[in-house]
Amino acid sequence: MEDIKLYVSEHKDRFINELIDILKIPSVSADTAYSQDVLDTAEAVKTSLAKAGCDFVEICETAGYPIVYGEKTIDPKLPTILVYGHYDVQPADPLELWTSPPFEPVIKKTEIHPEGAIFARGSCDDKGQMYMHVKAFEYMIQSNTLPCNVKFMIEGEEEVGSVNLKTFVENNTEKLKNDVILISDTGMISNQQPSITTGLRGLSYVEVEVTGPNRDLHSGLYGGAVANPINVLSKMIASLHDENNHITIPGFYDNVEELSLEERAEMAKAPFNLDNYKKALDLNDIYGEKGYVTNERNSIRPTLDVNGIWGGYTGEGAKTVIASKAFAKISMRLVPNQDWEVITELFTKHFTSIAPAGVTVKVTPHHGGQGYVTPIDSIGYKAANMAYTETFGVPAIPVRSGGSIPIVALFEKELKSKTILMGFGLDSDAIHSPNEHFGIFNYLKGIETIPLFYKYFVELSK
Ligand code: BES
Ligand code: MN
Ligand code: MN
Repeated sequence: MEDIKLYVSEHKDRFINELIDILKIPSVSADTAYSQDVLDTAEAVKTSLAKAGCDFVEICETAGYPIVYGEKTIDPKLPTILVYGHYDVQPADPLELWTSPPFEPVIKKTEIHPEGAIFARGSCDDKGQMYMHVKAFEYMIQSNTLPCNVKFMIEGEEEVGSVNLKTFVENNTEKLKNDVILISDTGMISNQQPSITTGLRGLSYVEVEVTGPNRDLHSGLYGGAVANPINVLSKMIASLHDENNHITIPGFYDNVEELSLEERAEMAKAPFNLDNYKKALDLNDIYGEKGYVTNERNSIRPTLDVNGIWGGYTGEGAKTVIASKAFAKISMRLVPNQDWEVITELFTKHFTSIAPAGVTVKVTPHHGGQGYVTPIDSIGYKAANMAYTETFGVPAIPVRSGGSIPIVALFEKELKSKTILMGFGLDSDAIHSPNEHFGIFNYLKGIETIPLFYKYFVELSK
């Protein structure tokens, strides 16, 4: 497919500018202040799919933000690829840490991206990666090389748990029928070493509230005599890990799949440099569960992390006060076989049980999802590997990721098809962080690689 390289080089500026236009719309799904922008982004995605060559596009309303759906059927007897992505983005804060405004995309060179990267919220996660699919599809239409049918399902609530997509998928299994699901919403090892994500972690996300006295108190008059909710919450949170950084919730590890030494040895072959890892994060050392190395800690092991903690006085200067309440948001990343609803219950039971007298504790579950692992002997995996091998010159390495796309396990359950995770982002692209960016190299390489996946998937399906 020399033609795709030519097409990309001829249309590269337009591809970049079109993406920039979509990145300018602040589609933050978590914050209702942006609800019109989220809806506008759905419209923009719909228009782009129609322009690229879908013969049917629609905005599917849900109880939340809409799902953009598009399709192109060339022959019902041929395989169908379902492309999933999301047009919503994470909140951009803290704004002051961005070197350029999050919704005013600019191209800047970095050490890792000497050809430049687009800096904007959503550039990598997932607007940039989603849009690669629209442009790859445009190429296949323009060059008359689309080898099969395609359906696009681009949602607007991934960053807030895909709650309404779940219902949509359950109610539309016939419409969404496919032979393989293709997603670019993950990363790869480096621009020299592509990888295919073979696992995603599950997630249980909860909020906890610890209540002490019925009002904020003078910390001199009452300090030492009543439970301080912030002290208590800190102690309770600290007790959730033991001295080896194992999680102490009874039953938490019951269904965790232990990988064989062979599998772990296989994982250890993926290139990883601990010094570079530390340097990239300005850390003097790493930290984590005893008995496991970094690449295991962040993929095949479950974790528990406080994502936010607040209470009391955090303004300027000092205020002597014992707060009435303290709060925290806690996420647990889960591995395959751990059921997120069971884990949520175990957490709730345990966290409530460790509350000392003098406070009351409330646990509110937010959202969650199951983990996912995919085999490497499927047609889809092989096709993806052939595609990467051709565009990068080296085969891809299978890697289990620590991130979560909770809907993927549901796709398999409801639509009975495997998902192939062809991600083109890098860990250093700072998704969810200030200064998120997506390499121009990665964006264009993605556009080049995707049509090859279509080609090989159809060939191997024959
Ligand atoms: N695209 C990410 C997930 C991801 C990133 C997986 C990199 C693997 C590698 C996705 O948008 C995301 O952020 N998911 C959330 C979960 C969701 C329920 C909010 C996550 O992992 O925190
Ligand atoms: Mn994403
Ligand atoms: Mn994300």
